[in-house]
Amino acid sequence: MIKVEGLTKRYARTLAVDNISFEVEKGQIVGFLGPNGAGKTTTMRVLTCFLPPTSGKANIAGFDVLENPLEVKRRIGYLPETPPLYPEMEVVEYLTFVGKLKGISSADIKRRVDEVMGRCAIGDVRDKLIGKLSKGYRQRVGLAQAIIHNPDVLILDEPTSGLDPKQIIEIRELLKSLAGDHTIILSTHILSEVEHSCERVIIISQGRLVAIDSVANLTNRLRGSEAVALEVEAADGRPNPTDVQQRLEQVPGVSRVVMKDSRNARLAFEVESLQGRHIRADLARTVVNAGWNLSEMRAVGLSLEDIFLQLTGPEQKDQKEQKDQKEQGDQK
Ligand SMILES: Nc1ncnc2c1ncn2[C@@H]1O[C@H](COP(=O)(O)OP(=O)(O)O)[C@@H](O)[C@H]1O
Ligand SMILES: [Mg+2]
Repeated sequence: MIKVEGLTKRYARTLAVDNISFEVEKGQIVGFLGPNGAGKTTTMRVLTCFLPPTSGKANIAGFDVLENPLEVKRRIGYLPETPPLYPEMEVVEYLTFVGKLKGISSADIKRRVDEVMGRCAIGDVRDKLIGKLSKGYRQRVGLAQAIIHNPDVLILDEPTSGLDPKQIIEIRELLKSLAGDHTIILSTHILSEVEHSCERVIIISQGRLVAIDSVANLTNRLRGSEAVALEVEAADGRPNPTDVQQRLEQVPGVSRVVMKDSRNARLAFEVESLQGRHIRADLARTVVNAGWNLSEMRAVGLSLEDIFLQLTGPEQKDQKEQKDQKEQGDQK
């Protein structure tokens, strides 16, 4: 649905996007993650035909952004960093205006405006001036204008920035409900954001692509081993902690077992595997065969924060060291 090949964008002096390639399949929700200045907004502006690429190609639903910008624009909904809202317009008035601009017929417009207001939960402010709305409502009106023509692809630039935690959760839920029908790419510099809303993540740093993978795979790949949290209890009360610990340690591929909590009838453990070993099935079997109940088992991954530092850290550190060395040299 989205195909980017060797995309490069240079502003006068800055190489903002440096030869990046990626694809997003239909119905996916993908996080475009990178620190401030990484090139996220620039890439999105190329995808939405607001900026021409310096070189490379970008293709949306089979249409090239340079060759068929009108076809591309028809198929995308774009929420820029600052939503293009008119503060002196009422919500209904604004959405009707945008809908007509995007080619929705007079016969359909009312139904469509009602539909997106329902979808984005802004019906209760339909007759309010946009300028009087809270940031969270304004962001949802921004989303409503992006989806009003029912585009295949949604390109959302930092859709949750500046919102409070409750508003973030609401937007997140809304985005999840839109995925499937729509292919969504959303940018963020906040790691937990992609962890919660996205299936896949594209990470860029200083204009360059550093990783594309599923959130789960990235976590595992970088860790190279898995960590599993589990809780064990016995039908007749608390199992013997040492007994459980020893059995878990004997499971093939296990490198470490840490007891996290032994205060309740349920004992909580965290078990780590050796690199590349999958231990969950064997762990479950061991617990059950010993006659205990496995009351909980879940993967505990590295946080994306850790991953991100691993992926973007060394290079930035090198550059910083070079810069520091240069500065020291200059002082001599
Ligand atoms: N219009 C512009 N003119 C010159 N440089 C720009 C312009 N817009 C962005 N840049 C530079 O390009 C780089 C990438 O910026 P941007 O795409 O906004 O990153 P992000 O959205 O990831 O924070 C930054 O170094 C930024 O300063
Ligand atoms: Mg940006």
